[in-house]
Amino acid sequence: MAPSSSLLFSSIFSLFVLTATSVAFKSPFHPNDILPLLPRQVSWPILNYLNSAVDLLPTFVGSASSANNSSGWKGACFYNNSAWLEFHNNSGSEYGGGTLHLKVSNAHSWTCMDLYVFATPYRVTWDYYFLSREHTLEFKAWEGKAEYEYVKSKGVSIFLMQAGMLGTLQALWDVFPLFTNTGWGENSNIRFLKKHMKATFEQRPQPWVTNLTADDIHSGDFLAISKIRGRWGGFETLEKWVTGSYAGHTAVCLRDSEGKLWVAESGHENEKGEDIIALLQWEEWWEFELTKDDSNPHISLLPLHPEIRAKFNETAAWEYAQSMSGQPYGYHNMIFSWIDTVDNNYPPPVDAHLVASVMTVWNQIQPSYAANLWNEALNKRLGTEGLNLPEILVETEK
Ligand SMILES: *[C@@H]1O[C@H](CO)[C@@H](O)[C@H](O)[C@H]1NC(C)=O
Ligand SMILES: *[C@@H]1O[C@H](CO)[C@@H](O)[C@H](O)[C@H]1NC(C)=O
Ligand SMILES: *[C@@H]1O[C@H](CO)[C@@H](O)[C@H](O)[C@H]1NC(C)=O
Ligand SMILES: *[C@@H]1O[C@H](CO)[C@@H](O)[C@H](O)[C@H]1NC(C)=O
Ligand SMILES: *[C@@H]1O[C@H](CO)[C@@H](O)[C@H](O)[C@H]1NC(C)=O
Ligand SMILES: *[C@@H]1O[C@H](CO)[C@@H](O)[C@H](O)[C@H]1NC(C)=O
Repeated sequence: MAPSSSLLFSSIFSLFVLTATSVAFKSPFHPNDILPLLPRQVSWPILNYLNSAVDLLPTFVGSASSANNSSGWKGACFYNNSAWLEFHNNSGSEYGGGTLHLKVSNAHSWTCMDLYVFATPYRVTWDYYFLSREHTLEFKAWEGKAEYEYVKSKGVSIFLMQAGMLGTLQALWDVFPLFTNTGWGENSNIRFLKKHMKATFEQRPQPWVTNLTADDIHSGDFLAISKIRGRWGGFETLEKWVTGSYAGHTAVCLRDSEGKLWVAESGHENEKGEDIIALLQWEEWWEFELTKDDSNPHISLLPLHPEIRAKFNETAAWEYAQSMSGQPYGYHNMIFSWIDTVDNNYPPPVDAHLVASVMTVWNQIQPSYAANLWNEALNKRLGTEGLNLPEILVETEK
């Protein structure tokens, strides 16, 4: 990321903290402080657009699918735009690929440009347009059935980035692949942790799974989990990094009064797709981790020290776990274990703006997930209800 970028964006989220403590606070952005990485004649018209924090978020303009032409949105530069997607099989791959057509016209000046981010849950790419005409973006081959199905029904999401954001975009480019459920995404996570946390990854000798049995596990034993692939993988990577922990998720083993082993865990997805606190039978939990968890989890079992175990009140723990079972997972709290100071909450090169951008993009692709993660938490802080991210930003500026 360009060194100037960290100067470009002050912390959007510091504003939530400030608002929460009732400190009068105006928009943290001063367009004149923003020295775009663009040539002057290009940047000046753009600066006029940067009036408030909201302007710095990528804007979802629509999704282009083959069944639906997304059209008529207004860019910062081009006032008449439309997009559609055409499926093809030029690569001869199993699911083929596609071409996104983007027609931009009615530029308000001939030096301006629009920057776009194109996203599916499996990839993100970006492009910028100077010229009024039809542009195309190639997707050589879909990652697999899942992406193919997704794009067929939901299309490719298109976001308009406010220009002057090239720095952020470059950083976004580094961070976004963390979330993709692909080998590329997984390697990105590993590279990221190696680079930013000096983590080491040494491949274990086979077998990769120990053959421990439920009998080896006692109430209070702790499971430290590190997911490195897919949406949880990407999320955990950022979480590890901003909190400084090498585990992204934890769970506790508990036995019921009959001695049956259970795992008490947060973030378990129920049938409605909500992430809740759950008590799961060990066999079910272990089976899922061994065969179905696509986040390639690394799991360590950390047994309680015998002295501590002797003090562990299994009955009380069981009662407490039962009382929590089915409750929503505490995203509202979790977010504030990241954002716990007024600024400098994120290690460079991530800044609050980048996080907000990622979340905005994610919001569109996995709405309920983003809503849990950010919007619930921030609404709670602000004492509001049901506002989405842009509305939250507006609220904080009041
Ligand atoms: C979308 O628009 C393009 C160009 O205007 C046109 O060729 C295409 O047939 C349209 N597709 C649909 C589904 O309307
Ligand atoms: C097409 O897009 C419009 C506007 O985004 C949306 O309301 C409509 O449901 C979409 N239709 C299909 C078939 O996806
Ligand atoms: C916008 O573009 C579409 C298709 O490219 C065209 O039909 C329409 O007339 C244009 N609208 C304006 C206001 O230029
Ligand atoms: C694309 O072509 C390959 C090879 O001809 C074929 O196996 C595959 O089924 C095709 N995929 C689609 C989506 O048409
Ligand atoms: C399973 O564990 C037992 C006891 O620790 C050990 O003797 C045995 O070799 C292990 N089996 C495998 C396949 O690792
Ligand atoms: C353990 O917890 C149960 C339930 O809260 C309580 O009744 C019991 O006295 C506790 N046992 C000890 C040894 O503290």
